[in-house]
Amino acid sequence: MDISSTIKRFEKLAVKCEKEYAGTFEVKNISDIDYGKLSFYDLTSKRHSIREFGQEQIDYEKIDDAIKNSILTPSACNRQPWKVYLIRNEEVIKGTIELQKGFKGNAPLLILVTVSQSYYGSPKERYAAYVDGGMFGMTLIYSLTAVGLATCTLNTTFDLERDKKIRNYLEIPDDEVFAMLIAVGNYPESAKIPISKRIDIEEVKKVVN
Ligand SMILES: Cc1cc2nc3c(=O)[nH]c(=O)nc-3n(C[C@H](O)[C@H](O)[C@H](O)COP(=O)(O)O)c2cc1C
Repeated sequence: MDISSTIKRFEKLAVKCEKEYAGTFEVKNISDIDYGKLSFYDLTSKRHSIREFGQEQIDYEKIDDAIKNSILTPSACNRQPWKVYLIRNEEVIKGTIELQKGFKGNAPLLILVTVSQSYYGSPKERYAAYVDGGMFGMTLIYSLTAVGLATCTLNTTFDLERDKKIRNYLEIPDDEVFAMLIAVGNYPESAKIPISKRIDIEEVKKVVN
């Protein structure tokens, strides 16, 4: 069967993808941006995942500020089932990143967001922890950005074996599920950022009449 025309179509698409969807752009003087002064829409459009951080010590008051603000996140029945673990030790950070397997960078701080399943009462709420945890994590990421800290979310979608390993390594109780890890640090002077193009509203919005 002759599939040369199909190959041509895909080749054209691949070039388009490479130009629009791949690569990086540089933000010079990113550490000078005062994210806390931006409007919410500017903050959301100027936040990017950062994978190489500045060298200065993290100001832990900023971390507490961001966590306090994140506790304002709405949760089902106002249960506030979140826990936030600060992983500060260099060796433990390295060990966690090794077990997580999805992050090539390094970070001066890892934050683990978990949610305790013990707050929920019935099987129909089996996914509620991930919703509450995801919402909390998002507020935390924006709050960290607002206090001037750079972040990169890291997935915690582990198979059972890795879940057990990380749980034992960080001593996380069995009733808590992992929502996400967040690599945190100061902004570098300038940053190379993956393009991460977003889809159009037409692909997202469905009107149900
Ligand atoms: C739940 C979640 C898990 C992610 N896991 C990883 C990860 O393991 N490693 C990584 O480098 N980036 C990870 N990211 C970052 C995404 O790649 C990034 O958010 C996405 O490409 C959009 O780019 P932006 O954050 O710069 O807007 C994760 C993001 C989310 C929300």
